[in-house]
Amino acid sequence: MITRPALLLVGRNADVRDQMKRMLASDYELLEASDSADALSHVRQAMPPVVVLGLGLPSDGASATEQLAILQETLRLNQDAKVIVVMDNRDRANAIAALESGAYDILEKPVQLDVLKVVLQRATYLFNLERESRAIREQANATEFAGLVGNSKPMQGVVGMIRRVGPSDVPVLIIGESGTGKELVARAIHRLSARKEAPFIAINCGAIPETLLESELFGYEKGSFTGAAQQKKGRIESAQGGTLFLDEIGDIPLSLQVKLLRFLQHHEIHRLGGKDPASVDVRVLAATNVDLKEAIDSGRFREDLFYRLCVITLRVPTLKDRESDITLLARTFLTKFAEAEKKLLKGFTPQAIEALLTHNWPGNVRELENRVKRAVVMAEGQYVSPSNLELKDLSSIDRNSTTLRVARDLREKELVKSVLQKTDGNVSKAAVELGISRPTLYQLLSRYRLKSQKSTDPLEKGRA
Ligand SMILES: Nc1ncnc2c1ncn2[C@@H]1O[C@H](COP(=O)(O)OP(=O)(O)O)[C@@H](O)[C@H]1O
Ligand SMILES: [Mg+2]
Repeated sequence: MITRPALLLVGRNADVRDQMKRMLASDYELLEASDSADALSHVRQAMPPVVVLGLGLPSDGASATEQLAILQETLRLNQDAKVIVVMDNRDRANAIAALESGAYDILEKPVQLDVLKVVLQRATYLFNLERESRAIREQANATEFAGLVGNSKPMQGVVGMIRRVGPSDVPVLIIGESGTGKELVARAIHRLSARKEAPFIAINCGAIPETLLESELFGYEKGSFTGAAQQKKGRIESAQGGTLFLDEIGDIPLSLQVKLLRFLQHHEIHRLGGKDPASVDVRVLAATNVDLKEAIDSGRFREDLFYRLCVITLRVPTLKDRESDITLLARTFLTKFAEAEKKLLKGFTPQAIEALLTHNWPGNVRELENRVKRAVVMAEGQYVSPSNLELKDLSSIDRNSTTLRVARDLREKELVKSVLQKTDGNVSKAAVELGISRPTLYQLLSRYRLKSQKSTDPLEKGRA
């Protein structure tokens, strides 16, 4: 149900419907109706994106009127539905009436199956595109906070934390996997602080060789070592009045940890080869993607320094933990890079969106950004495809019947997961959003070993 679009076939002639079914069953979830009441009840319940109306209806005036009525009622119930009306080729007046009522296309009897197939594909494609662009409009109020894009619950939490800790002057330890946006978070904190007009200085402690790190951080006096032709300020001093961001703090060698601690305690530093201390007024933010507690246990990180740095700890979620942000971020990057590349790209194909949602994102937002950047360069048409993103096209997996079940389960699981996340683990709301009953959702949760986080419905307690 989730992977294939629903297609409703309406017509009196069962033979004609059977013929269609054989050809279309692999691509669509087929629904059938032989009269108006049946047809409209399907439209109400399943909201099929595509409807083929009038297969084998006798071409008299009465059936044309009935067709038109079904068409109008279908569009009233679901204005996005693509209704393809099959008609007698002499029936120009009704064809025009159907088009005026909003039919997607008119096909002449007898229907050429290969033509129908193409028309259906295009109708489904258009339906998906329209749905996607509506989703974009709905997300127009999505948060962009100091360059941080994200609308998911976990991201709202991060933004809330930034708002609270930003204006204070305490050190913040930002924890999160590589590429989750720790530096952006640090910059956002700086921008909210009273130090915002003063410099924000970042240093990646993991990327600078140990021997250089000390002089980078603390600076040196003229003649303190061979090649020190004049005095040079370190990054700490350069951040005077502002914020110092120590990235990959877990990589800092123990010898420097002592010096850093002294600076944090006394707000002064000694340049290399310098006698007198220089006082500095700097707020320190640090980030790490390693478990500092473990580093402390194994003697690689000083506990006293750790407690100095982590007055407040802010955890940035992985991209996998905030799936609802994936498409939002992808579209943001697409717009940005398309503009930079001067390419007229309209968006992602539905297959590309699916591929984005099912990928694991070990490199988090940085990986997503890079994939979209490459895809923008590689894309030839108006839409970015899974192959442009160097991701697997799951719909091509579908056609391979041996993995059909697997692929469908995978997507079903992802969908359930992301809706649950959106509803904050509320099963009742998620069931409504997914259009399934609560018991069915519970079945899916247990099949995919997913958990509902919390429930506001007392009846649900203990069930999930
Ligand atoms: N929420 C976000 N919104 C927009 N861009 C983001 C977001 N998170 C990360 N990025 C981008 O992803 C890349 C990696 O972010 P960065 O802050 O350097 O990650 P980290 O320091 O955690 O490794 C940067 O180019 C950054 O601009
Ligand atoms: Mg970083």
